[in-house]
Amino acid sequence: NLIYILNGPNLNLLGKREPEIYGADTLEDVAAMCVEVGAGFGLEIRMLQSNHEGEIVTWIQEARNHAAGIIINPAAYSHTSIAILDALNAYDGPVLEVHISNIHRREAFRHHSHISARADGVIAGFGVEGYALAMRRMGSLLS
Ligand code: DQA
Repeated sequence: NLIYILNGPNLNLLGKREPEIYGADTLEDVAAMCVEVGAGFGLEIRMLQSNHEGEIVTWIQEARNHAAGIIINPAAYSHTSIAILDALNAYDGPVLEVHISNIHRREAFRHHSHISARADGVIAGFGVEGYALAMRRMGSLLS
C-alpha cells in the first residue's frame, strides 16, 4: 500500500525554521523515519511538500487513484483552506492530520483547523514523532 504524506507551506524549511517550535529534524529525516515505520506495516510512502495550495489540491485528487491513505500536515493552510478540505472530502481512504506543534497552546488563529472536519485522526504537539505515530495508525487502519 502507498501512503501520500503531504506537507504544506514552509515545511520545506523544517529543521531551520523556528527550531524551538518545530525541532531540528528536516523533512528528509521525517521521510526516512516514515519509510522505516511503514516497512513494518508493508506501507510505502510518497513524501511531498508544497508552498502552493493548488498543488496540494492536485496531489489529493491524484491520491484518489494512487494512494491507500493520506497523512497531511497542511501547515498554515489548516487554518484557511476550504479547497484542501473539499479535496479531502472527495477522497475515500483514511486521512490523518499531523501538526508538529500543539496548535491549541499557540495563537488563537491556530486553534481551528478546517481539515479536522475530514480527518479520521489528529495528532498535535508530538513533534515530528507525530508522523511516525500517524504511520503506525495508518498501518492498523489498512490491515
Ligand atoms: C503546523 C502548525 C501551523 O499552525 C503552522 O502554520 C505550521 C505548522 C505544525 O506542524 O505545527 O506551518 O502545522
